[in-house]
Amino acid sequence: EAAEKGGFDHFMLKEIFEQPNVVKNTLMPRLPLDQDEILLDNIKLTQSDIEKFKQIYIVACGTASYTGLVGKYLIERVSRVPVISEIASEFRYREPILDENTLMIVVSQSGETADTLAALRMAKKAGAHVIGIVNAVGSTIAREANDVLYTWAGPEIAVASTKAYSAQLCAMYLISIKIAMELGKIDTNAFKALREELYALPDKIESILKQSHKIKALADQYKSSKNIFYIGRGLDYAVSMEGALKLKEIAYLHAEPYAAGELKHGPIALIEDSSLLVGLVGQEELFDKTVSNIKEVKARGAKVLAIALEGNEAIEKTADEVIYVPRTHWYLTSILLNIPQQIFAYYIAVGLGHDVDKPRNLAKSVTVE
Ligand code: G6P
Repeated sequence: EAAEKGGFDHFMLKEIFEQPNVVKNTLMPRLPLDQDEILLDNIKLTQSDIEKFKQIYIVACGTASYTGLVGKYLIERVSRVPVISEIASEFRYREPILDENTLMIVVSQSGETADTLAALRMAKKAGAHVIGIVNAVGSTIAREANDVLYTWAGPEIAVASTKAYSAQLCAMYLISIKIAMELGKIDTNAFKALREELYALPDKIESILKQSHKIKALADQYKSSKNIFYIGRGLDYAVSMEGALKLKEIAYLHAEPYAAGELKHGPIALIEDSSLLVGLVGQEELFDKTVSNIKEVKARGAKVLAIALEGNEAIEKTADEVIYVPRTHWYLTSILLNIPQQIFAYYIAVGLGHDVDKPRNLAKSVTVE
């Protein structure tokens, strides 16, 4: 097993460090530099097929469901098609409106999650078109979806998902950009600018991984926090959900994500001196708004760790500690902001002496309801 871990202490850390390659493998074959289009493997959707979709659902469980939330923000903002991002176990029991004008995107690492599969079957039965973003080749969801876009993350051994999530985000970027191009919402120049930034992601992830010593020191410093709040707005809010989940899964710490603007409507009552706030500030146009929410929490005694874009050093006036990630196109910030969260959760779990790769009570693939 030591050999399989390739010199890393845990599979989770190995998988975190595989992300530059995973991102390359998922993106590059679909983004040829000599053509100004995205090649989505065997997906045959034409412009008129895409124009027909009046409603998009993105359905998944756990970490994969946060890919859906990112997809919702991106598709609605750029393509102006209504998107509902939903957890599969809720979707399947609420009689959602589905017909042949519906596109469903299901997201699953294993391709075997029972609730996600049930949602897919419901949608197909109602005549909807289903695209699967799947990691496990030949899995049930990959076979049953009308189309599949594989995330080339390779086998993910650690129960807590890291590289598969980054690959899912890449697949979601590709599908959402493709939809926008077919609907005439992104022109060739805008596409080229995005493609250039997509190509730059592996090196940018690499540069975040180089900060892991600093992040480990922060994890040691904050591992005895009692309540941890992750906050952000817009795309950052979607990322905060994954950050909090990772900490719950492997560090067994009470961590909750909140939309930054919603704090004052209740959660702020929980803040005390032992609380830690992880503030995500990756959305340029929402920077001041989120910073003012961070100030409200800090004033009530919490310590603040911010994850921010390089160049936004103004955050240092408010946060106790800051981890910077490289700047990219706004469309792609989510993947970069999440990497420090993975490393932070990993080192907290290690510091607390937990079985990082096999956390208690969790299964890698949930094939029962
Ligand atoms: C389990 C795993 C999670 C995963 C979720 C969805 O709960 O522990 O890490 O996010 O299932 O799995 P899927 O294979 O459908 O992505």
